[in-house]
Amino acid sequence: MQLEQSNEKEFPMAQQDFEFIRQLAYRESGIVLPDRKQHMVYSRLSRRLRALKLNNFHQYCQRLEDDGGELINFINALTTNLTSFFREAHHFDYLERHLVPQWQQRRDRRLRVWSSACSTGEEAYSIAMILAKHFPPASWDLKILATDLDTNVLDKARAGIYSQEAMANLPKALLNQYVEPGPHPGEVMLCDSLKRLIHFKQLNLLGEWPMHGPFDLIFCRNVLIYFDAQTKVKIIRQFRRLLADDGHLFIGHSETLHNISSDFKLIGQTIYQPQHAALVRQRLGVGA
Ligand SMILES: C[S@@+](CC[C@H](N)C(=O)[O-])C[C@H]1O[C@@H](n2cnc3c(N)ncnc32)[C@H](O)[C@@H]1O
Repeated sequence: MQLEQSNEKEFPMAQQDFEFIRQLAYRESGIVLPDRKQHMVYSRLSRRLRALKLNNFHQYCQRLEDDGGELINFINALTTNLTSFFREAHHFDYLERHLVPQWQQRRDRRLRVWSSACSTGEEAYSIAMILAKHFPPASWDLKILATDLDTNVLDKARAGIYSQEAMANLPKALLNQYVEPGPHPGEVMLCDSLKRLIHFKQLNLLGEWPMHGPFDLIFCRNVLIYFDAQTKVKIIRQFRRLLADDGHLFIGHSETLHNISSDFKLIGQTIYQPQHAALVRQRLGVGA
């Protein structure tokens, strides 16, 4: 639906402004903005127009062209950051019931996990609580890389301060061990020993990735939905490169790798493992 330049709107947005915004968002983040998201785009970016004291979206598009510094605010405003502790609990059950016992047999005592669209950090801290509970950080080499495109959410993630309600459903044992009173009433804070396991960094899934892996587990949940097939194919191919042959990939509840990648095999609810290398070779017709 097209927003008309009407007096009812605080900021006029012409169709060509929306086209500009749509193309820029796609180019810079891979996020696809169909017409039905025009209202959402309007309301999220209106905050930027207000902050910059602009009168209409044409001026805002001009600002984006002239001032490279505005791009990060633009991207931060457009991302959807909804998340929660132990969201999609079946992944954490699988981690605790299946992966923890396997990993406990490891001689190298080294684990690498990547939360690849970590938003405000709840996913990474949930992983950290499970790992720290079963693998004492003093005798295990544990690292969780937590990345996101949006710099605002990363600031919140690094602070590790949340409302009490956000953690209301966490098991008491985890709360007692890893959570402390926060700086203000109604707030709580993750303890330093947990924070030390996580490295929060900005990373655009669309861009170059500086890491070499291999990761034992990659979480890429509730971000693929914003991308088109071509972007998903590219990202999933790179995940395969960085994932250990016996590693796991968790994706979001409404996401699938069907028609996106034959490198992975579905082994549980939105849980994937790399196909056995020989099977992939056979499918490609490459000799042994
Ligand atoms: C809905 S949140 C998902 C958070 C968490 N993974 C979960 O499932 O609860 C999606 C996150 O993807 C991030 N994102 C969007 N495009 C991205 C990109 N190109 N590269 C990295 N992160 C991106 C957004 O900033 C947002 O924080």
